[in-house]
Amino acid sequence: MIIPAGWAWIELINRQQKLNALKQSVIITPDIAGGITFKGKVIVYKDKSSITFYSSKCTHLGCTINKMENGVIVCPCHGSKYDLNGNVIEGPAVNSLTKLDYKVDPKTGNYIVKPV
Ligand code: FES
Repeated sequence: MIIPAGWAWIELINRQQKLNALKQSVIITPDIAGGITFKGKVIVYKDKSSITFYSSKCTHLGCTINKMENGVIVCPCHGSKYDLNGNVIEGPAVNSLTKLDYKVDPKTGNYIVKPV
């Protein structure tokens, strides 16, 4: 079977784009501990019945958020505080954390999260 070169080229580009998207994804295993977990570009909030993924990029000036203090998520740069649902409870940030889309791998049950 002869495949036109243009079609083969488009297929190659599509595969490369999918591979790049997968490389940028963060894989979260389903056995992750409850509560808040910081995973690089992703903040995971798992409670008894649900799991939510937020970008760890602070909505003030973009610092990476990586800590909790007294039960709230705290940005290390200027001290913005967010509740467990990603809502601002103290500025300077004014916008909630960004919720991230994810897929579940049907084979492993792992969450595949795409950071922004
Ligand atoms: S960058 Fe997070 S509070 Fe300023």
